[in-house]
Amino acid sequence: MSLEIVILAAGQGTRMRSSLPKVLHPVAGKPMLAHVIDTARGLNPERIHVVIGHGADLVRERLQGDDLNFVVQEQQLGTGHAVAQAAPFLSADSVLILYGDVPLIEQPTLERLLQQASGEQLALLTVELDDPTGYGRIIRDAAGEVQAIVEQKDASAEQRAIREGNTGILAVPRGRLAGWLSRLSNANAQGEYYLTDVIAMAVGDGLRVATAQPQAAMEVQGANDRLQLAELERYYQLRLARRLMAQGVTLLDPARFDVRGEVSVGRDVQIDINVILEGHVEIEDGVQIGPNCVIKNSILRSGAIIKANSHLEGADVGPGSDVGPFARLRPGSVLERQVHVGNFVELKNAHLQDGVKVGHLTYLGDSDVGSRTNIGAGTITCNYDGANKWRTVIGEDVFIGSNNSLVAPVDIGAGATTGAGSTITADVPTQTLAIGRGKQRVIDGWKRPEKIRKS
Ligand code: UD1
Ligand code: CA
Repeated sequence: MSLEIVILAAGQGTRMRSSLPKVLHPVAGKPMLAHVIDTARGLNPERIHVVIGHGADLVRERLQGDDLNFVVQEQQLGTGHAVAQAAPFLSADSVLILYGDVPLIEQPTLERLLQQASGEQLALLTVELDDPTGYGRIIRDAAGEVQAIVEQKDASAEQRAIREGNTGILAVPRGRLAGWLSRLSNANAQGEYYLTDVIAMAVGDGLRVATAQPQAAMEVQGANDRLQLAELERYYQLRLARRLMAQGVTLLDPARFDVRGEVSVGRDVQIDINVILEGHVEIEDGVQIGPNCVIKNSILRSGAIIKANSHLEGADVGPGSDVGPFARLRPGSVLERQVHVGNFVELKNAHLQDGVKVGHLTYLGDSDVGSRTNIGAGTITCNYDGANKWRTVIGEDVFIGSNNSLVAPVDIGAGATTGAGSTITADVPTQTLAIGRGKQRVIDGWKRPEKIRKS
């Protein structure tokens, strides 16, 4: 059975009190609507139709994709009216309706729902709630068959006592949908064209309405305000933390761990508290990450250790290398095997070969450093002349003394040594010593200035 998906995302989200359209508010760093689109893609539909209205231009711009058909609903006249805007574009056998502000819905739940959908049967996702206030109620007959959905505002006291709520998520046979939508009326408490009225119409036409339930109620929870958004965020993070733990990661506190992107993990990884992983992060076996680290778009290879308070972006940390505490690795930082990068070190576009040591207070930008080379404390590559950036190339087994300024472009040959405090402005040949500093003078009998006494 072919499938198309319609995502409703036209609402304003007044209670967000925001100039950003509601569906663009992020969960785990990604717009809510993008979560729904990604889950929808997992179901391999022929096409995804997104009904937009408030902030339509921005939503379209942020979420463009070849498989997306954006349909503008000029006025928000109800969920039925919203689906009707997409109806002329539909051609598949079955249509699944999702919501741009219900971001945590999971693919297995939707797959279970779709298994029940056919040309002769609708499939409705319902949820049993302790407090169903605000939800449409599922009306069943004596045999337990779904007859209708009644909205909270249209429900009798007896109907309001029903705890089975409508999630809004629904799969319908496409061939019948347009007909039902054209018969919707807005003669109800809210003056809206309710999608939910389609249920009673289908039953009237002799079709059956099957139901399925989500694994967890949070899957179908929408975000109407920033508190609900924060609740979804916490739930999402804990769900992800559980998955990572199941894959062999120790999280010292799963409640103090955040992922804003995609993470792949090996086994026996240990992550301390308040770590944030962003973008695309790969973590191999045995990696340890200390507290308060931010790691973005980086690869941490087997056995790498990232110590407390380090900030990595676009870094590739080689096997057995250690970084931090308080290190900053900027894009293009590549550490091969067993590299040591210590505290208050900043790297940018720097390739450090096996066994390089950069222990303290150093900036290496646009640099290549050969194997086993030691960079003394306080060394700075002067890679920028105010107009252009230049490379610093340092060979193998070099010893850069403390507090050097390496003025690029400059090439330091293998086995060379530079004296502490040197300003290296010219290439240093292999196996030589370069010293570029003022010669020390000693002034005998020097007297310190004395304080002038005021009478
Ligand atoms: C809807 C359901 C209700 C269900 C509840 C679950 C209807 C009539 N009611 O009620 O049974 O229990 O969701 O949360 O469907 N939207 C549009 N265009 C519109 C109207 C809405 O795109 O013209 C979008 C909104 O942006 C929102 C979603 O559809 O994402 C739901 O609309 P909303 O008005 O919030 O429906 P509820 O009253 O919550
Ligand atoms: Ca709602």
